[in-house]
Amino acid sequence: MIVLEWLFLTIAPCDAAEPWQLGSQDAATPMMQGIIDLHHDIFFFLILILVFVSWILVRALWHFHYKKNPIPQRIVHGTTIEILRTIFPSIIPMFIAIPSFALLYSMDEVVVDPAITIKAIGHQWYRTYEYSDYNSSDEQSLTFDSYTIPEDDPELGQSRLLEVDNRVVVPAKTHLRIIVTSADVPHSWAVPSLGVKCDAVPGRLNQTSISVQREGVYYGQCSEICGTNHAFMPIVVEAVSRKDYGSRVFNQLIPQTGEA
Ligand code: CUA
Repeated sequence: MIVLEWLFLTIAPCDAAEPWQLGSQDAATPMMQGIIDLHHDIFFFLILILVFVSWILVRALWHFHYKKNPIPQRIVHGTTIEILRTIFPSIIPMFIAIPSFALLYSMDEVVVDPAITIKAIGHQWYRTYEYSDYNSSDEQSLTFDSYTIPEDDPELGQSRLLEVDNRVVVPAKTHLRIIVTSADVPHSWAVPSLGVKCDAVPGRLNQTSISVQREGVYYGQCSEICGTNHAFMPIVVEAVSRKDYGSRVFNQLIPQTGEA
């Protein structure tokens, strides 16, 4: 049973923070996969430099100990070593910069024709989501507020201060445009698994493009200090199949049509 549990926990994707977590949450978008790959890429150079510098250090301490080497040599210059130690440290940042810029600019790329546009508005201290694609009039729009579940009120299985009353439902494997703004002070729409951290600035529309690759529930938090309840305005994105998404939207729109 324990083995099964371990297997399940190991295989199941990590889409929210976990106790003792060391790495990133599992990627659900190509963007996040790119970030994780870049991290590993840079980490390779980090290990390389760490090992090399430690080796030099230990070697110097060992060979030039005053007992082992009481009379030091008086060499102060070495052209070869000086050329090498200038060229190599300037090549390594290039190996880091090239994939980094490639990722940065690909993340900045705007998807020209996204299937769905969602507007995420930050408030002190909750969020409003607008599905503007389905507006046929001012009365009939799909807009809802998303508040956190209070600390003393979570149901079994809900994450403390990460769950909300109304989740953002999006279709998986679809190009989405998220428009992020704020109604009062700067907030941030950040979901680690989706690789998004987009500032919500009052009077400004920020845009990010995502494509969630698998169905699941993704958790994020406000990432811009916005006041006393900064910690209490989480984000929950639920990615469902396109079919389920259609019926969810349809069910949400029906009652509002009745009222209008
Ligand atoms: Cu909203 Cu911090």
